[in-house]
Formats: sequence, C-alpha cells, structure tokens
Amino acid sequence: MNIHTYEKVWLVASMVLIVGFIATITYGAIGPGIAMINDEGGDISPDAIADDERFDDPGVEHVGGNEYEVAVIAQAWSYSPSEIEVPANSEVTFYVTSLDVTHSFSVVGTNVNTMVVPGQVSEMTVQFDEPGEYGILCNEYCGEFHHTMEGKLNVVPEDEFDLTELSVEAPDEVAAGNETTINATVSNGMQTDLETTATLEIGDQTDERDVTVSGDSSETVEFPVDTAELEPGEYDWTVTVDGYEETGTLSITDATAGGDGGSDGGDGDA
Ligand code: CUA
Repeated sequence: MNIHTYEKVWLVASMVLIVGFIATITYGAIGPGIAMINDEGGDISPDAIADDERFDDPGVEHVGGNEYEVAVIAQAWSYSPSEIEVPANSEVTFYVTSLDVTHSFSVVGTNVNTMVVPGQVSEMTVQFDEPGEYGILCNEYCGEFHHTMEGKLNVVPEDEFDLTELSVEAPDEVAAGNETTINATVSNGMQTDLETTATLEIGDQTDERDVTVSGDSSETVEFPVDTAELEPGEYDWTVTVDGYEETGTLSITDATAGGDGGSDGGDGDA
C-alpha cells in the first residue's frame, strides 16, 4: 500500500501531538505537585454531621508540629466557623462539608477552591508561610443569599497564635467571713505543654498562680477568696490568663444581717 508523503507527515505529527498531550498531563499531575480534589475526605451523611468527630465541634485543631486541621461546615448562607485563625509557617488541612446544598469553599488569593457537596467531605492541604488576611467565598450558586456567603481566614504570626481557652466559675454571693473560691479552668488545645500564669484580682487582693497545662487538656486553678479581708459590698473580679480575661462581680453579704447567703454558689467543679 502506498501512503502519500503528506499523509505520513500528518500521521507522525498527530502521534507526536498525542504523546505531547499525555506527557503534559502526566507532568501536571506529578511534576509541580498539583493535587486534584479527590475522595480522600470520604463520605458523610448530612444528617450525621453533628455525630462526626471532625465536625461535632468545627474549627481549628492542632495535630502536632506545625500541622493543623480545620473542620468547616457550609450551609446556606454561612460557614461555621465563619472566622478561622491559623499561625504562619503551618500546614493546614481543611475538611469541608455541606449541611444542605452544594456550596464552594474558596480562599481568595490562594489555590484553595473546592466544591462542597452534601454527603462528601472535601479535603485539601495548604502551606501558609506568611501572616495575612484572606477572604473566604462561596463560588457555587446556592440560593437567594449566595452572594452574602463569606468568611475570613487570618494567618497570624506564630507567637500570636494559641488555642487557649479560659472559663471561670465563681459564686455570685458569699457571706462575709465564709470561705469561697473562684475557679479558673485553662484549656490548652495545642499538643504541646502550656506554661502560663493565672491571675485573680478582687478588691485589693491579687493572687498569681503558675499553671502548666499539658497538651490537649485543661487545668483548674482554685483561687481562695479571703472574705475576712473584704467589707460587705460588691466586688468586681478579673481573672486573666495570657491575653484572656473573664470578669464578674461577687457580692459579700453581711454575715450578721441575712445569714442565708450560703457558703458559695455551689456551682461545683468543671
Ligand atoms: Cu453557598 Cu453560594
């Protein structure tokens, strides 16, 4: 069979093109490390989101070293949490799912841009080197207020980031002369130990305690309040731990007058 020279040239050229396309796609998939959204995140029933350990308390979790996981629930027309804070120099894996319809989770100015499909978990990992502020947008039309569906991602300097929480239990009222305590619970969401100081200020009294909270746990500091030092009246108190502050008011009643103030609020321990 005689093949015309031009036909041979076109045949070879089209073969070269096909090989070229395959090489380009292969390079794109492997070479620069561009990862496509895949099914790694797994399936999830939208009715069971609250029971899933990733999504029962959505937000930022430290998983060790400079690695963090962020669980986000999308629903018409908001993200939960709507504001996310992670440290710079971190590797962050996002897990996003939807409670209702298809949304997207797009971090403006980064290559985080994924569809969020009910029943599925979108997973993607990003490196954040520098502090910065990013908007989060829904790029998938999801109803009347689609255009208002937004969030915020703050990448803060490493030394400004922590996962500390402070909660305080204090009685509202105590009879003068009786003993009471103000209990401050410090939770440490990081996997590393937290060494800090808890301070109670009430009246003229200042009480400072060093506290060490191991990774992923919490400690309660008990501050005894010396009511003998305080005249009956209203006392504002402040508990501070690092940059966190809780305030309240303790009223000290005259023991001789009423007498039914009780020894403390009886809130019990956390
Ligand atoms: Cu959600 Cu558009």
